[in-house]
Amino acid sequence: MNKNESRIFDHNIVLIGFMGTGKTTVSEYLSTMFAMKIAEMDRMIEEREQMSIPDIFAVYGEEYFRNLETELLIELQGERNTVISCGGGAPMRERNVEEMKKNGRVVLLTASPEAVYERLKDADDRPVLNGRKNVEGIAALMEERRGKYEAAADIVIETDQKSVLEICEELVQRLTEMDE
Ligand code: S3P
Repeated sequence: MNKNESRIFDHNIVLIGFMGTGKTTVSEYLSTMFAMKIAEMDRMIEEREQMSIPDIFAVYGEEYFRNLETELLIELQGERNTVISCGGGAPMRERNVEEMKKNGRVVLLTASPEAVYERLKDADDRPVLNGRKNVEGIAALMEERRGKYEAAADIVIETDQKSVLEICEELVQRLTEMDE
């Protein structure tokens, strides 16, 4: 591994982006490619609470879930060599973005509302899409969130029409350039 490559791993990689932009798939690929650990925040929260995300939202409410995200992001600063895959709403809180940046390079994955709809149309585990799981509803929420996503991101990667390999190659190249 040359000097530039090794620098990528001085920071964790924090993947953010709207639901269905491929954060989980990309984190799994990066983990395999570079022997990095994965912290899949949604799964970690579900395991700790012993409840699914929809149940956490239904029983305790969204604010409770958002507080769990903040606590977990603070905890994950202690990790090294880790791909942190955030829930889609995590960067909506300024505090969360501050915590992500303390030990991570923040990578925003984007996709068109149509692509997100195609990926999520049969899923029933995204409570924030309840009542608006259609292209228009997704586009509106995406637009509402766009400013915060972009403000949080160190780099932005558009994912439509790209393979996971292409996305990861672009990601590594852009992170390497950032450190040059
Ligand atoms: C959410 C996204 C979900 C999950 C929760 C809320 C959001 O994560 O954290 O349902 O507000 O965008 P994914 O982006 O992994 O689907």
